Amino acid sequence: MQVSNSQSNTYSDGVIRQFSIMAVVWGVVGMLVGVIIASQLVWPELNLGLQWTSFGRLRPLHTNAVIFAFGGCTLFATSYYIVQRTCHTALFMPKLATFTFWGWQAVIVAAAISLPLGYTQGKEYAELEWPIDLLIAVVWVSYAIVFFGTIGIRRVKHIYVANWFLGAFIIAVALLHIVNSAAMPASFMHSYSAYAGVQDAMVQWWYGHNAVGFFLTAGFLGMMYYFVPKQADRPVYSYSLSIVHFWALIFTYMWAGPHHLHYTALPDWTQSLGMAFSLILLAPSWGGMINGMMTLSGAWHKLRTDPILRFLIVSLSFYGMSTFEGPMMAIKTVNSLSHYTDWTVGHVHSGALGWVGLVSMGSLYYMVPRLFGQKQMHSIKAIELHFWMATVGIVLYIAALWISGVMEGLMWRAINADGTLTYTFVESVKAKQPYYIIRVLGGLLYLGGMIIMLWNVIKTATSGKAATATIPPVAAHA
Ligand code: HEM
Ligand code: HEM
Repeated sequence: MQVSNSQSNTYSDGVIRQFSIMAVVWGVVGMLVGVIIASQLVWPELNLGLQWTSFGRLRPLHTNAVIFAFGGCTLFATSYYIVQRTCHTALFMPKLATFTFWGWQAVIVAAAISLPLGYTQGKEYAELEWPIDLLIAVVWVSYAIVFFGTIGIRRVKHIYVANWFLGAFIIAVALLHIVNSAAMPASFMHSYSAYAGVQDAMVQWWYGHNAVGFFLTAGFLGMMYYFVPKQADRPVYSYSLSIVHFWALIFTYMWAGPHHLHYTALPDWTQSLGMAFSLILLAPSWGGMINGMMTLSGAWHKLRTDPILRFLIVSLSFYGMSTFEGPMMAIKTVNSLSHYTDWTVGHVHSGALGWVGLVSMGSLYYMVPRLFGQKQMHSIKAIELHFWMATVGIVLYIAALWISGVMEGLMWRAINADGTLTYTFVESVKAKQPYYIIRVLGGLLYLGGMIIMLWNVIKTATSGKAATATIPPVAAHA
């Protein structure tokens, strides 16, 4: 096996091209399943009366497809791009990097088959059964070897902050996955968790919250620290703030998981600790958002003409919004209203569609033309259209769910003078239907934008050719 490509004078971009294209393809697939399950919540007949297409089986298919297939492929693509460019070297063990591509696609296909068939460990965002978990662990360790190996053979002394975030994301996800997936296999595709009772719940939500913190946040912050300055053509606003941001964020996230288990059998002090750390988390989150946004100071006018920059900056405003909302929802009294309601699902999607989705799209729009030897994407107008469809789609989605979430929470707790419940549960379900229709419309717009992106990416890729980017000579200070 070729151990290092460090002697080559071109970057290893083939694997990035593969991951970038598949990110867009899986984005369309995952969001299509999102629209289908959103429609099933309005028109349950769309379950088709079949177990394989029922809501309960398609929902984890949606979450796995958007988080691990769309988000995951984007993270692989951008991290391989960033680490090479900031370290002035080609990838360490490029063949192992190719293995991570095929291995990750195998994981996705295995998920797409096993989830509709009903194989699940029943742990949210960690549903996949033990043989697939083992494959994930092998691919992830290979990813870590390629990424940290590339840092190891860098030709620049300094390690740029984007790599710190990406490195933390890779290490934390390995730790979370291995600990939370510990299970005793009972047969092929069936197993029992290594933990029981409330410990099992705590380990699961330590995993779940840090999947948000590291998979859906730290890795994407790595993207933000590279692509925002690049696209804006300005240095990052404050390098010192980025260091404080990094250490504060990764330290604080690890403790916030219990906010998913308020008012449960988890000891009360643990819940309060989770709440306190969630409130503290507002500070590093906003520090990062401000650092990204202020990178544009003196260049705000670029937002008017550059739709890619708009994707990146608007993603940061959604990041700021969801990281304000999250700490508020972690306050126990607020959570007693929001928990189990659509408010949570609205919060999830302001982070997922607004932050993760938009920053991914902006970064892919930056990389794709460069990877295929083109000056720019095939159609700038299509990027513009995509931006507006996505933004309007997000606003429809989250506004509808805020209303339906707060409404159902209030309906559940409404009590008559004689102490009986004012509304039956079914009345609260019926009251939500109009908002669910608005969510379907928002989802269709968001999905429509993604399909336009797929067309634009295919056009750009097929009219260009695989580009070979030359590694710059070693910097004088290196
Ligand atoms: C077209 C866009 C999308 C639509 C229409 C959509 C729709 C939905 C629906 C209907 C649910 C189930 C809600 C419930 O059980 O009440 C859901 C759950 C979820 N979706 Fe999406 N989704 C979309 C895109 C995304 C994206 C891009 C991501 C992540 C990057 C994402 C992440 C999630 C997560 C994490 C959940 C679980 C939420 C929870 O347990 O509270 N979705 N989505
Ligand atoms: C400071 C940052 C954040 C804090 C403190 C926070 C806090 C919370 C809280 C309190 C809940 C509700 C738990 C419950 O009642 O069950 C929640 C749910 C969730 N949040 Fe956040 N949030 C933050 C940022 C984000 C971001 C940026 C994203 C997405 C990229 C996100 C994704 C999610 C998901 C997926 C869930 C649903 C988990 C589930 O029940 O399946 N959060 N968050």
